Amino acid sequence: MTRWVNLKIWLLNFFVTSFSMFSLSHGAANAELRVKAVNLGGWLVTEGWMKPSLFDAIPNKDFLDGTGLQFKSVTTQKYLCAESGGGNIIVANRPAASGWETFRLWRLNENTFRFRVFNKQFVGLDGVKVVAFSHTPTNSETFNIVKESDNSNRVRIKASNGYFVQAKKEDLVSADVSSVSGWRDDDPTVFVMTIAGRMHGEFQLTNAYGPTKAPQVMKQHWSTFIVEDDFKFIASNGLNAVRIPIGWWIASDPNPPPPYVGGSLNALDNAFLWAQKYELKIILDLHAAPGSQNGFEHSSSRDGSLDWGKTDENILQTVQVIDFLTARYARRPSLYAVELINEPLSPDVTLEALNKYYKAGYEAVRKHSSTAYVVLSNRLGPIDPRELFPLANNFTRSVIDVHYYNLFQDVFNGMSVQQNIDFVYNNRSSQLSYITTSDAPLTFVGEWVAEWQVSGATKQDYQRFAKAQLDVYGQATFGWAYWAFKNIYNHWSLEWMIKNGYIKL
Ligand SMILES: *[C@@H]1O[C@H](CO)[C@@H](O)[C@H](O)[C@H]1NC(C)=O
Ligand SMILES: *[C@@H]1O[C@H](CO)[C@@H](O)[C@H](O)[C@H]1NC(C)=O
Repeated sequence: MTRWVNLKIWLLNFFVTSFSMFSLSHGAANAELRVKAVNLGGWLVTEGWMKPSLFDAIPNKDFLDGTGLQFKSVTTQKYLCAESGGGNIIVANRPAASGWETFRLWRLNENTFRFRVFNKQFVGLDGVKVVAFSHTPTNSETFNIVKESDNSNRVRIKASNGYFVQAKKEDLVSADVSSVSGWRDDDPTVFVMTIAGRMHGEFQLTNAYGPTKAPQVMKQHWSTFIVEDDFKFIASNGLNAVRIPIGWWIASDPNPPPPYVGGSLNALDNAFLWAQKYELKIILDLHAAPGSQNGFEHSSSRDGSLDWGKTDENILQTVQVIDFLTARYARRPSLYAVELINEPLSPDVTLEALNKYYKAGYEAVRKHSSTAYVVLSNRLGPIDPRELFPLANNFTRSVIDVHYYNLFQDVFNGMSVQQNIDFVYNNRSSQLSYITTSDAPLTFVGEWVAEWQVSGATKQDYQRFAKAQLDVYGQATFGWAYWAFKNIYNHWSLEWMIKNGYIKL
C-alpha cells in the first residue's frame, strides 16, 4: 500500500518536474533542489535552543514573564480568582484552580510584578479592594511576592500601597494589612502558591537579565552556540539547507525595542557567510511576529497572549520585516526561501487576516527577488489543510509548510513503537498526499523530529522511526527540515542523532 502511494507520488513528481521545464509560471513547478534541511534554533532563543545554564542563572528564576501563579488561602483553603475571568473584583472562593484562578506574571524587576488575568486585565487596587479592571497597567498595578523561604511555597503578596493582600472574606480580597509575622495557618495574608505553566523564550530571557546583562548574555550565546564548524558539519552530512527562525525585532537591529537586544542581525549575517562558504541554502523563517501569532514562548509571547494579525498596522509592521530581510539578502546565493510567518494559530489568527498578510508579504518578497520561494505556513489548530490553496495558486514559487510531530496530541498517548511507525507510513503519508497535488503549491515538512511519547525505546526503534519519517517526508515536493540542529534533549538534536548513528542521510 505504502509503496504504491510512494510510487504514485514519485510519478507525479516526475511529471511535475518534466512539466516545469516548460512552465514556471505556477506554484506547482517543482523546486530545483529538494531541501534536506535542519532548523537552526538558536538565532532566536528559547530554552532547549541554548545552553540551559542561561535560564538557570537568572535571579529569582521561578518568576519570569508569563509564569502562571495560583494562590490558595491558608485560612479558607480556597483559591484567589478573577471573577468573570477579569473586568471584576478578585475573590477568594474557588475550591479548585484553572484559567480564572491563574495569574500570569509580567516581570518588572527581580522582585516586582504585574499580574495579568484570563481576560487580559491587570490586577490592581480600587481603594484597598483588589480588582482586575485595567487593560493598560499603571504604577498601582504592581506587586511584590514575598516567599517564606526559597524552598517553601508559602507566600505573601504586597501591593503598591505598601500593604499586604489578605483573603478577608470569600468575596473580599483587600490590601490593608500593614504588619505581618510568622506563617501561621490562621493568617489571611498567607497563601500557598502553585506554579501552573512557565515560559522560557527570548522575551523572558532578555527581560529577566535586563538592559545591562542581556546584551552580554545574548552576545556570548550567539558567538558560541552555533559556529562555522557546525555549517561545515551540516554540509558534510547529507544536508543541503538550513531553516533559520528569527524574531521580528531583527528589523530594528542594532536598537530593537526593549527587552530585545542588538546583535541578531550580525548573527544572521554570519549564517549567510557560512552558508555560502559551505554551499548551503537558507530558508529564512519569521518565527516570532509582533504580538505573537500563537501565544507560545517560541513566538516570543510575553504572557501567552496572541495579538498578531488583529490590526492592519500590526500586519503592515510584519510586512516591513519581510521587506527588510528580503532587501538585505535577496542577492545572496544562499537565500532560497522566505517563510512569511511560522505556525499562526487558528482560530485566533483568522484565515482572512492571514490571507491579507500573505498577499502583502508575498509582494514584499517579490519586490526584491523573483526567485526566492515564498513559504506559507499552514495554521495550527482545526483547519482544512488546503485552506491556503486559493491564495497560493495565484503565486509563483510558493510552498505550503506543515509540521508533523508524533507529539503534543492525545492520540499519541500510549502508542507503541510500531503504531507510531505505522502512523507515519499511513496517516502522515495520506495527509501529505492530500496537500501535494500537481496544480497546487509545493509542500514542505518544515519541522519534524525523531521523538515520540514512547518510553524505553531502543536505538533501533529510533532508527526505524527516523527512517519512516525520512521515507514519507522525502515525498514532500519542496523538502523537509528536522527540528533542530542542537538541542539540550538528545533526540531533538540532529547533530547528536548523526554523531551517535541514529540518523544517516
Ligand atoms: C487570485 O487571483 C484572481 C485573479 O487576479 C483573483 O480574482 C482572486 O481573488 C485571487 N484569489 C485570492 C484568494 O486572492
Ligand atoms: C490513521 O488512519 C487510519 C486509516 O485511515 C484511521 O483508521 C486511524 O484512525 C488514523 N489514526 C489516527 C491516530 O488518527
